[in-house]
Amino acid sequence: MNIRSEIKDIEKNIIDWRRDFHQYPELGFDEHRTSKIIGEALKKMGLAPQMNVGKTGVTADLTFGEGPTIALRADMDALPMQETSGLDFSSKHDGVMHACGHDGHMAMLLGAAKVLTQNGDGFNGTVRFIFQPAEEGAGGARYMIEDGCLDGVDEIYGIHVWNYQPVGEVGITDGPVLAAADMFEIKIKGIGGHGAAPQGTIDAVVVSSHLIQAFQTIVSRNTNPLESTVVTIGTINGGHNFNIIADEVTLSGTARAYTEENRNLIKTRMAEIIDGVAKTFGAEISFDYEDGYPPTINHTDPANKVLKAAERVVGEKAGMPYLSMGGEDFSYYLQKIPGCFFFVGSAPNDQKLFETPHHCSHFTMDERALLVGPSIYLNLVDDLLGIK
Ligand code: NI
Repeated sequence: MNIRSEIKDIEKNIIDWRRDFHQYPELGFDEHRTSKIIGEALKKMGLAPQMNVGKTGVTADLTFGEGPTIALRADMDALPMQETSGLDFSSKHDGVMHACGHDGHMAMLLGAAKVLTQNGDGFNGTVRFIFQPAEEGAGGARYMIEDGCLDGVDEIYGIHVWNYQPVGEVGITDGPVLAAADMFEIKIKGIGGHGAAPQGTIDAVVVSSHLIQAFQTIVSRNTNPLESTVVTIGTINGGHNFNIIADEVTLSGTARAYTEENRNLIKTRMAEIIDGVAKTFGAEISFDYEDGYPPTINHTDPANKVLKAAERVVGEKAGMPYLSMGGEDFSYYLQKIPGCFFFVGSAPNDQKLFETPHHCSHFTMDERALLVGPSIYLNLVDDLLGIK
């Protein structure tokens, strides 16, 4: 690996930042301590950070000359779960944990900012550092955009540390890299009765089983098998007792797709199936479908730029990411301007891949990854804004 020497020089700073954020995790829109630490660090670098952007976000511009503006984004929030990693810098906040690696994202971006503020007179243009709150569900990106974080920005880039790939691998591709992540709730209303006298009842449990079965055909029979989609029923709740026919069942679940077309297809087919099953059994069924984050779709030219920048760090280990159907609100930025969201391999070196997945209570990362990310950022700034 070819870690940039300026990044190697501040390795301790980067690790210290990450471990500090890790010990004091904060949930979405509650990142008050986190944003204060970031603001102070940026000020110390000579920048003039804007605080409270998108509620608890922070942005700062570093400008040399009139060239283009590129934004680099890190998300800031943690998850509502109890850490079990056993690390000596484990979370000190009960029931809150950086289990997705956003602590690492902030540390990497601060590292890049520190080097660029020290040596940045080698470029022509503006780098905007974006620290965004509330990625985990509340869509902090939308609040940042509303507050103008993309104003004047030509291209945007973002990193996710990625425990599905080892350190030294970097996943980059154009097109979809993360899915639309929608949720739905279905309420089935039937007519209850005695478990031994089904005549005259409409059994909400039987109706729900037909719905669940039929939903499985959306992915297997309606969508193109070459395009990834998921329909998952996550919860079933209903019934009163073993000898009572249930009058009501509630289902909830999530639908995932890499394209808006498939997202709409799933939504439409679900509605049609619900309608048909309701008629078949005479039940009343309500359908509440809520759009989550849109699919994260990288633009071709920025993805090629990241690939070039990453190849100079990890050589041929820069390539196709290990893709997932997770969601990510970086998608909102990519709907507005060109950019690329990419994945820096961070699987702990003493463990097998997939042993420490994101969002698990023993999540941890190989901290060597925290030098890979900012090295790519520095190469990218050289390529995009460098004085030729
Ligand atoms: Ni994440």
